[in-house]
Amino acid sequence: MNVLGIESSCDETGASIVVDGKTMLSNVVASSLELHRYYGGVVPEIAARSHIDSIIPVIEESIDSSGLGWQDIDAIAVTYGAGLGGCLLIGVMTARTLAITKNKPLYAVNHVAGHVYANFITHTKLDGYKLPSSEPDFPMLALIVSGGHSQLVFFTNHFEYKLLGQTRDDAIGEAFDKVARIIGLPYPGGPSIAEVALSGDPYRFNLPKSKMSKYDFSFSGLKTAVLRLSQELIGEDYRFPSYMLSERLDLAQKANIAASFQRIAVESVVDKALIAYEEYLPKSFVIAGGVASNAELRKQIENRFPIKVEYTDPKLCTDNGAMIACLGYYQAKLDINLSDPYSLPIQPNLSM
Ligand code: KG4
Ligand code: ZN
Repeated sequence: MNVLGIESSCDETGASIVVDGKTMLSNVVASSLELHRYYGGVVPEIAARSHIDSIIPVIEESIDSSGLGWQDIDAIAVTYGAGLGGCLLIGVMTARTLAITKNKPLYAVNHVAGHVYANFITHTKLDGYKLPSSEPDFPMLALIVSGGHSQLVFFTNHFEYKLLGQTRDDAIGEAFDKVARIIGLPYPGGPSIAEVALSGDPYRFNLPKSKMSKYDFSFSGLKTAVLRLSQELIGEDYRFPSYMLSERLDLAQKANIAASFQRIAVESVVDKALIAYEEYLPKSFVIAGGVASNAELRKQIENRFPIKVEYTDPKLCTDNGAMIACLGYYQAKLDINLSDPYSLPIQPNLSM
């Protein structure tokens, strides 16, 4: 079964064709990231307008580069939530139109669950992808760490899961982005912090780890602690404006803050994932979402988890159409969320 997956929930326009939920034939992503850099974060209106420009060329390229034609596509899967309303609308309206005009079944896919399914893609002939050697077994524990979500989910089977915990305030990726902004690193903050942290000392500063209930996360206190620490380092108090901090911090201070923040942020999610692992004893553990490509996260998992954990390629951790096509395949197989192309609405606040 060949599924075309379409993704447009934030600043990436993605389209991909995946066969039987495991073999990726094409994966095309156009990002409006450069347009947002000046503002230090995604501007929803700009992102939505970029989707309008990119979505048709991205879908066409995903089909052309797959070696298939429209006649070979068995279903269309599209992200209908969670995400930015204006952005979701472009993907959903495009998918609805294509489902009608090309006469294909349409499946509405949850973006956050889609991130988890990036781990089920195990084969591709495309260059530059390092994929897991096999798909994860159930029961499966998933740590979802993205710019919008931080969640621990225990899956007993496809579409049978329990949300164990989630963030009470900021998502972990959001914390990376905000801390990067405080110390003057470019957006998106995750990769910038990871890079600068390489030359810093992760034990230089003792930043606080949140004390939330068993499986819940919190990152706003850590972010504020970075702000206070930065003010202190330049000899100012809490009244000093955050936007003026970065020019007063030197490179070594920035690197040490980045490394110390990254260590603690990552430790706090790995701590909880490990407790959940020991309680639920899953057969597999997967990480998903943009922050799943973080090298410190992978290192801490390797050092602390008793099982060998497989990871997907960083290009499938951030937003893409392949993960949506993959989950769409399982939905088609199990008849979940087959949608009316004349009425499928977006759901910006959709949760797991
Ligand atoms: O999953 P994603 O592409 O979008 C959402 O659904 O939110 O995640 C984007 C987030 C951003 O906050 C970005 O800073 C973070 O993932 N990120 C990283 C890394 N690469 C992307 N965070 C830490 N380390 C990275 N290498
Ligand atoms: Zn995402």
